[in-house]
Amino acid sequence: KMTKVWQLEGELLAGQLTEAAELLKAGELVAFPTETVYGLGADARSTQAVEQIFAAKGRPSDNPLIVHIASIGQLDELVLPYPELASRLMQQLWPGPLTIVLPVKPGAVSPLVTAGLATVGVRMPDHAAALELIGQANCPVAAPSANRSGRPSPTTAAHVLEDLDGAIAGIVDGGATGVGLESTVVELAGDNVIRILRPGGVTPEQLLLAAPDAMIDTPPAKAEATEAPRSPGMKYTHYAPQGDMEIVQGDAVEMTAYIRQAIAQAKSEGLKTGALVFAEREGDFDADVVLTYGGGKRQLEQAAQRLYAALRQFDAEGVQRIWAEGCEEQGIGLALMNRLAKAAGNQVTRL
Ligand code: TXA
Ligand code: MG
Repeated sequence: KMTKVWQLEGELLAGQLTEAAELLKAGELVAFPTETVYGLGADARSTQAVEQIFAAKGRPSDNPLIVHIASIGQLDELVLPYPELASRLMQQLWPGPLTIVLPVKPGAVSPLVTAGLATVGVRMPDHAAALELIGQANCPVAAPSANRSGRPSPTTAAHVLEDLDGAIAGIVDGGATGVGLESTVVELAGDNVIRILRPGGVTPEQLLLAAPDAMIDTPPAKAEATEAPRSPGMKYTHYAPQGDMEIVQGDAVEMTAYIRQAIAQAKSEGLKTGALVFAEREGDFDADVVLTYGGGKRQLEQAAQRLYAALRQFDAEGVQRIWAEGCEEQGIGLALMNRLAKAAGNQVTRL
């Protein structure tokens, strides 16, 4: 199968997405940009279409998919009545990188989308091309991140092609995505508890601003192995590069010394080494591959944007041992540390 690429340049013109929307309607898979990462879209109502998502990604079928909508009006046909707190979050934070888990209307989407749960995760992406595509296709669009399972989420169309060329009908290329990490997934408990199932593009601080009376329930940085995963996706090891990775957090001087020593040791064992650090420390390490998050410590947004491309680059260069500088779990730093810890299989060293 040939994978078509629709290149979007400059202002979005309605006609540019007609063919992509027609393919979605016809039950084909179309990857598209969102503000977080690229999604792999299919008509959420069609089991035959959604089946192809799992096949193309090599994704376990017990992991449910997020349904993307372009307008609040589309929600009525998808979900049962939901709490007032949910509408407040939608009003304040949609379109945006927030997925809300709501009671699903029986029969509204393919059972493959919900993986048999009584709930469905819904979000309205903050991206003009995504909204236009979903609007033109005129259906709820199920879309996981457009990577092969176990690979970092794609933040460019080139990443999608790397993983899925020939396996999907097309890709809408809207350039690099803005946030660079996936959406925050929340469920609501009782009248005023917002439980974060997956930290992401919307920070706990933003949730609290949108719902000042709510309690925010944040998951522990390290999920307890014994606890049944609330968000089915959390139990899979995602985002892991092929090289063995360790996150190092703490005082800059100690961290630099620790990583330098570890690199020297690994090199003496003949291993290919990599380091991922903030730009101000780029020159401090003599790893075989030194990548930066860009900016200084406080520019966590830029770090989030670059993380997945960096992990892909380590793989492309065959790096065997990776050390990455951690950050504080504030703002987008919470999601960034969550993805770093996952990529490192929870090898996080706090100095
Ligand atoms: O930013 C994003 O969310 C991207 C873009 C494409 O929108 N999508 C994305 O999808 O990250 P995916 O499939 O890679 O991750 C979906 C996450 C998984 O952790 C899944 O377990 C959780 O959302 N999820 C989906 N439906 C759920 C539900 N009904 N209850 C609990 N968790 C759910
Ligand atoms: Mg994913």
